[in-house]
Amino acid sequence: MQMSTETTASYGPDNPAPVIEPPRARTGRTPSATRGNFEMYGWLFMRLSGILLVVLVLGHLLIQLVLDGGVSKISFAFVAGRWASPFWQAWDLIMLWLAMLHGGNGLRTIINDYAERDNTRFWLKMLLYTATVFTVLLGTLVIFTFDPNIR
Ligand code: HEM
Repeated sequence: MQMSTETTASYGPDNPAPVIEPPRARTGRTPSATRGNFEMYGWLFMRLSGILLVVLVLGHLLIQLVLDGGVSKISFAFVAGRWASPFWQAWDLIMLWLAMLHGGNGLRTIINDYAERDNTRFWLKMLLYTATVFTVLLGTLVIFTFDPNIR
């Protein structure tokens, strides 16, 4: 069998590689960047918030559901006692914000992946953003305005 003598493996000064035209030429009016890094920061945020949520959520579950008699100890007085401390207010606030932003961004990814029609995708995300903002604002309001003497 005759081997081909035309080899593409050894481009060099004597055998220059063919020049391929770029599909679009850059001009003076081409924007320097057409996209930001939002999705990369979103990807990083999911990992970092996930690490913090392990501590915050598992600590929360342990205290609320396991230690000191488990769930049966939870009452108005128990909540009032915990939110009297700025430490537990901050714990719950950070857990609320991270869980909502983490869960919200995760659902945004799922909607982008699975909702095929533009309209469906748009309205599902509007519903998601509305629910996320509403829950974060309401939860934050409750943590800061909780009144133990309401009764
Ligand atoms: C407890 C610790 C948690 C860890 C370590 C964690 C970690 C992660 C990571 C690394 C991702 C990204 C996965 C990917 O990009 O493929 C993710 C996605 C997600 N997380 Fe979490 N997460 C935690 C808690 C939560 C909580 C509390 C919620 C709900 C409020 C939640 C809801 C979601 C959702 C909806 C997604 C998107 C899933 C997907 O893209 O398929 N996660 N999580």
